[in-house]
Amino acid sequence: MSAEAKNDAVRTEGLDVWLGGTHAVCGVTVAFAAGRTSGLVGPNGAGKSTLLNCVSGLVPASSGEVYLYGDRTTGIKPHQLALRRISRSYQGAQLVGELPAVDNVMVGDHVGLRTGLVSAALGLPRARRAERAARERALHALERVGLAQYAFRPVKELPYGIQKRVDLARALVSDPRCIFLDEPAAGLSRAEKEEVVEVLAGLRVAGGPTLVVVEHDMRVINQLCSEVVVLAAGAVLAAGPPETVLNSPEVVAAYIGRGSKEQVESE
Ligand SMILES: Nc1ncnc2c1ncn2[C@@H]1O[C@H](COP(=O)(O)OP(=O)(O)OP(=O)(O)O)[C@@H](O)[C@H]1O
Ligand SMILES: [Mg+2]
Repeated sequence: MSAEAKNDAVRTEGLDVWLGGTHAVCGVTVAFAAGRTSGLVGPNGAGKSTLLNCVSGLVPASSGEVYLYGDRTTGIKPHQLALRRISRSYQGAQLVGELPAVDNVMVGDHVGLRTGLVSAALGLPRARRAERAARERALHALERVGLAQYAFRPVKELPYGIQKRVDLARALVSDPRCIFLDEPAAGLSRAEKEEVVEVLAGLRVAGGPTLVVVEHDMRVINQLCSEVVVLAAGAVLAAGPPETVLNSPEVVAAYIGRGSKEQVESE
């Protein structure tokens, strides 16, 4: 494997995904650099979620390849991602409404909870210790996103903006080296978006995780991302620094079906 390949957290080569009769991802060759925060943008239906779903094993590639940190992972199963310290959030926060926030966050801790299934079933002390430690990690993740005070509230009682941050805590709890975030700020107020941006900006430290952020709000993208990939109709339209890419005429034109240039800049 080349040194360059290792420097990419995610790389796809000629990736195609068909969903029923829809060619959702069309021959996409793209790379997201390790240790950076990259944006993945494009109009509705461009294939952004499908691309994330494919690299995280939720939908199969029809052809082409996926590499994570230089290892070929095409066809990887979602639970195997956790062992590679890769996590993700979902476009609609997929939480269990009846459960407290802390329990929802523990669900993201695949690696921490993997050990001792037999001892857990038998209620052995080792399993109880492991569960306590997992609970501590979940509480810490909730603290990192500023939600310590909501830890024991059932999530269905919490406003959507808070639920989105619980989902973020769930993506953070396993100490991943790469996180895919599918619209972390969607449906949030301006103030709630600022809180999400602040949490994500706080992760951009030396040794912090690679972030790949799908987002329609270009203010969020501009604040967080050092590079951006634009998808349109399943294909890569442009890639590069946000200030160059987002103002290019073809990118503005790609958004025209759903809005104006102002939407591209500051939706
Ligand atoms: N389960 C499915 N079955 C068939 N087609 C699908 C399915 N899910 C998505 N599609 C289609 O695949 C294409 C890509 O959808 P995708 O959800 O990846 O787009 P997106 O860029 O994430 O859009 P959005 O910004 O609205 O979330 C669209 O044409 C969509 O209608
Ligand atoms: Mg989507």
